[in-house]
Amino acid sequence: MSDIYPTQVCLNEQEQDAFRLLADELAGYDPVAETESFVMAAQLLSARLPERIRRAALNFRRNGDSAGGMLLRNLPVDPLPPTPDHADYGLGIRLPAARVFSLASALVGEQFGFQPELAGQIIQDILPVKGFEDTQQSISSRALLELHCETVFTEYRADVIGLLCLRPDPERFARTVLAPTAVLLPLLDARTLEILSELRFSTTVDGSFLRGSGLSDPIVIGPVRVLDGDPRRPRIRCDFAETRGLDDEAQAALDKLYAVASDAVIDTRLEAGDLLFIDNHDSFHGRSSFRYHGDGQDRWLLRTFITKDLSRSRVHRPGDGRIVDTDYAVGANVMVLTS
Ligand SMILES: [Fe+2]
Repeated sequence: MSDIYPTQVCLNEQEQDAFRLLADELAGYDPVAETESFVMAAQLLSARLPERIRRAALNFRRNGDSAGGMLLRNLPVDPLPPTPDHADYGLGIRLPAARVFSLASALVGEQFGFQPELAGQIIQDILPVKGFEDTQQSISSRALLELHCETVFTEYRADVIGLLCLRPDPERFARTVLAPTAVLLPLLDARTLEILSELRFSTTVDGSFLRGSGLSDPIVIGPVRVLDGDPRRPRIRCDFAETRGLDDEAQAALDKLYAVASDAVIDTRLEAGDLLFIDNHDSFHGRSSFRYHGDGQDRWLLRTFITKDLSRSRVHRPGDGRIVDTDYAVGANVMVLTS
């Protein structure tokens, strides 16, 4: 396990009050029916957040963090209803905490979402759902959520993932883990890094993005590089549950990456009011297993996807809205479509 930790900024009472006040001003906008006005208002209001918070968030946006993430702690997330029993109701986006979340997110970039993932809104509920306990989806619980970068099957994946904890699991078993490139790449030999930088990998579309599409067979995307860009600080594109080597040597390199990533994890235990921003190009993330109860007191996070350049995905966002809606089964990067 690594001894580095994400940069932490813990809000004092005055800073909490500033968030509450600005979040109240945002309450006049409907984040679902008026997404664009809501985000614009959040962006304008975020300029009035305390300078210490803005400075930390802007620094993360510009430079990232050697731990692959940053933590804003002690954000106001009350009042809070019982944890819903399904993630598709889109309950969290209506809460005061969602306004606080969007104020902070506006400092890091542009919020957007994906259809049909979790109600297809810019803020999603991440909570354990009965029947999905053992899946590799965000709504699982008993299963360890394998180290991954988010939605690596698409070029339009988020630059930053935001996770705001509304309610931790009662037993405090759940740990959100990071495995940043700054820690793990120096542990790999030059030949392995070279192979990981070549177009010798495939990755499949997350099952949760196929719901309702009628497709049950995996859609395989590739060939892709796991490491891309400046060799001194490459971007990673890999989900260990979905990404495979296209040949034995490539798979062996991926296995080595997995071994060092598993050894380098940074454990975080998110408490209510903790907002973790994760750099989706600089770090893997995952989650330990925890217990599902179904009694309204289960773990509940809000998640948002943040991009630094919304225009990149314009062709896949109907009406230039903030929700990417595309058919992953078509496109030049689909390698094999088994049926
Ligand atoms: Fe994730």
